[in-house]
Amino acid sequence: MRILLVGAGGTLGGAVRAALSERGHEVVGVGRTGGDLVADVTDPEAVARLYAQAGPLDAVAVAAGDAVFRPLAELTADDIAATLRGKALGQLELVRQGARHVAPTGSFTLISGILTEEPIPAGAAASAANGAVEAFVRAAAIELPPQRINAISPTVAEESLPAYAPFFPGMEPVPASRVATAYVRSIEGAQTGRIYRVH
Ligand SMILES: NC(=O)c1ccc[n+]([C@@H]2O[C@H](COP(=O)([O-])OP(=O)(O)OC[C@H]3O[C@@H](n4cnc5c(N)ncnc54)[C@H](OP(=O)(O)O)[C@@H]3O)[C@@H](O)[C@H]2O)c1
Repeated sequence: MRILLVGAGGTLGGAVRAALSERGHEVVGVGRTGGDLVADVTDPEAVARLYAQAGPLDAVAVAAGDAVFRPLAELTADDIAATLRGKALGQLELVRQGARHVAPTGSFTLISGILTEEPIPAGAAASAANGAVEAFVRAAAIELPPQRINAISPTVAEESLPAYAPFFPGMEPVPASRVATAYVRSIEGAQTGRIYRVH
């Protein structure tokens, strides 16, 4: 398959790219600052240009997204808007526009995260954005067939512990390679509307 992977240069995206390449897929990596194609997917016009450049696609997968982590008492309206835009809106836009570009039996695989169900202090905006992604996946799955859509909801990756460990006390990390396996399941499998939890 020919797969557009947004965030292919990141911690999770690197593992997803490796897993998909090992299985013989052609991965077109996307990042804001580098990759096979460069685009900021929070900009709808950049998403349109991205699909125009990408050529035929069998699947779109996302392993990208920014969130603001700040205690609720200090959280600003701009923090909330930035988090919804950085984590959720870009992914929704990739599907909204992508439905016209991806093969009729192709798929979308989005990224949420454990904070949807297991909140942490300072993570309210991120939890809300993840919840939006998951609700969208369940809803879009009704209208997209024969295209499919799923989300991956990982806990913290072992590789991210140097940065994130203080935020996830007592929560068992998983290797990024295990998260990548869930992407393979979503892309090569037959299910739709599913949230694959990697906890
Ligand atoms: N790592 C974890 O433990 C973990 C756990 C649960 C969920 N998640 C979720 O998984 C996703 C990836 O996390 P990560 O830790 O792998 O991130 P990361 O290492 O920071 O990598 C993110 C990648 O996505 C690209 N990117 C970010 N925003 C983009 C945008 N607007 N348009 C295009 N490309 C963009 C970045 O490219 P540039 O650097 O070129 O901008 C980078 O290659 C995030 O949504 C995160 O919330 C991560």
